[in-house]
Amino acid sequence: MCGIVGYIGHRKAYPIIIKGLTRLEYRGYDSAGLALYDNHQIEISKTKGKVSDLEAKAAHLATSTSHLGMGHTRWATHGVPNDLNSHPHVSNSGNLVLIHNGIIENYDAIKTELVKRGYTFQSDTDTEVLVNLIEEVKKKENVKLGKAVQLALNEVVGAYAIVVFDLQKPDEVVVAKLGSPLAIGIGDQEFFIASDASPFIEYTTDALYLEDHEMAILKLGRPVKLRKIKDDAPATPNILELQLSLDQIEKGGYDHFMLKEIYEQPKAIQDTYRGRLRPEEGLVKMAGIDAHLERFLKAKRIVIVACGTSWHAGLVAEYIFEDLARIPVEVEYASEFRYRNPIIGPEDIVIAISQSGETADTLAAIKLAKEKGAFVFGVCNVAGSSIARATDAGAYTHAGPEIGVASTKAFTTQITVLSLMALKLAKEKGVLSTIDFHTYLNALAQIPAQVALALQADASIKEIAQVYKDAPNCLYLGRGFNFPVALEGALKLKEISYIHAEGYPAAEMKHGPIALIDDQMPVVVIATKRGHYEKVVSNIQEIKSRSGKIIAIVSKGDVTVRDLADHVIEVPETLDWLSPLVTTLPLQLLSYHMAVLRNCNVDQPRNLAKSVTVE
Ligand code: AGP
Repeated sequence: MCGIVGYIGHRKAYPIIIKGLTRLEYRGYDSAGLALYDNHQIEISKTKGKVSDLEAKAAHLATSTSHLGMGHTRWATHGVPNDLNSHPHVSNSGNLVLIHNGIIENYDAIKTELVKRGYTFQSDTDTEVLVNLIEEVKKKENVKLGKAVQLALNEVVGAYAIVVFDLQKPDEVVVAKLGSPLAIGIGDQEFFIASDASPFIEYTTDALYLEDHEMAILKLGRPVKLRKIKDDAPATPNILELQLSLDQIEKGGYDHFMLKEIYEQPKAIQDTYRGRLRPEEGLVKMAGIDAHLERFLKAKRIVIVACGTSWHAGLVAEYIFEDLARIPVEVEYASEFRYRNPIIGPEDIVIAISQSGETADTLAAIKLAKEKGAFVFGVCNVAGSSIARATDAGAYTHAGPEIGVASTKAFTTQITVLSLMALKLAKEKGVLSTIDFHTYLNALAQIPAQVALALQADASIKEIAQVYKDAPNCLYLGRGFNFPVALEGALKLKEISYIHAEGYPAAEMKHGPIALIDDQMPVVVIATKRGHYEKVVSNIQEIKSRSGKIIAIVSKGDVTVRDLADHVIEVPETLDWLSPLVTTLPLQLLSYHMAVLRNCNVDQPRNLAKSVTVE
């Protein structure tokens, strides 16, 4: 989830771009760069690191009188964070300059073709391929930049928000959007372009948000020329007058980053499987596995090391890997693994899961596993992070920056990556029938829409939170694939509302915890149709007979549990092993609303840090 800023008009571009990039840093920053057009020259400055590092490196441009420029903060998806891979990228001729937020899925095929035509590449990015594709189309078709962009984007598969200009025609900028946000600020004889309105809200409140499959040519002295990318047909600009504060813009209009990130999950899950999940081709493509496939197929077991929410994702993965791929899995708290002298060796695969990629205990566990000869695979959300660099191979979640301390979209995107891995290994090992494999691929492809449906229960969940916001304790119960979800739900409630909560396997109640049940004890039970349903219904009856208050997460249309529980929250029905991706949502929302009703600091809860980089 990168940040993009562009400007063309009567003001000096540099301060608008630098300050705009600073405003967009919440969208992620592992590197940054800017380009300014001045007197037929392009000045470019790019650096690994934050916007402040760019400001230091580009200090010589601070006095530039340029009125045309663009800037970018990168959240790497292709190519490690370094100066060369930073944006903007320039075409081989030196004439076209482009910044991009998104993923071009078919960039490798396009790059191969461009290399055959003599193009050379300085970086490992999909973005540099795109700017040279536009150049190639412009030359071959002998068209202007706007038309070249329109034709080139029809050859591209993926997501993008791009800003591009041509050194030879410095009075216009071309922008285009599919899947990544792009806002245009419209001023008097000036245009601002950005990922959201925060970089330009102080200059103009007139804004146009491009829709998917739209592009625009911004020429000074002319109205916005809006086009459909597919066929170059004119489109009517819908110019809004913004009434948002800066803070509201950064949170996307949500009250907290945590709520914004809960609602980002349909897109985050889709971005995470984009290019990897290929139902139409009947395959799962994961470069990090393909390169070490033999190692995975020969592995005697998989050991997962992680902390907190990432550990819960690992526990879900244990159930999925053993059920689908028939590979023995053990899940270890990294902090315990690193000190207990574990038996681990070259026949083991260790999977390290971490949103931040900087958790000290997980890093130490990786070091120990590697010293003992194990192959270590990382599942991280931050490209170029310490864990991403310490592991032998890996697969990134593409959740985008997670600002809220309570992990939400990281959890569901981790499960998405781990599900893809299990599916791929099950197919390669031949332990999954082709029919089931295709069924599972298609079911996973439905998850983003089902997560979006699960979010529709938000208002009713807020009402439930109102009833239980002062409860001193809370129990979370689940079975099978949803036992780890019960643990995760309890952690969410603990860490942001400060209510004591515990997750248990539902059947474990009779071994002690049922003594806690009384009419003051809310019990959240995950009772979806395909997960040991009858057994869970019995557990609910045990709780009800002891006056426990039951909040049940049920499959849509369930009527049995509805007659037993005090509250039911419906989620769409999916395969049992995929259900954690939908049953987690109501638990995230329940904890969020209870915390807000208790006036807790949802995004920065007391005593907690987003990344525990110390032991
Ligand atoms: C989850 O809500 C917590 N913020 C915490 O448990 C977190 O999952 C844990 O610290 C691990 O962090 P990591 O995924 O960045 O390694």
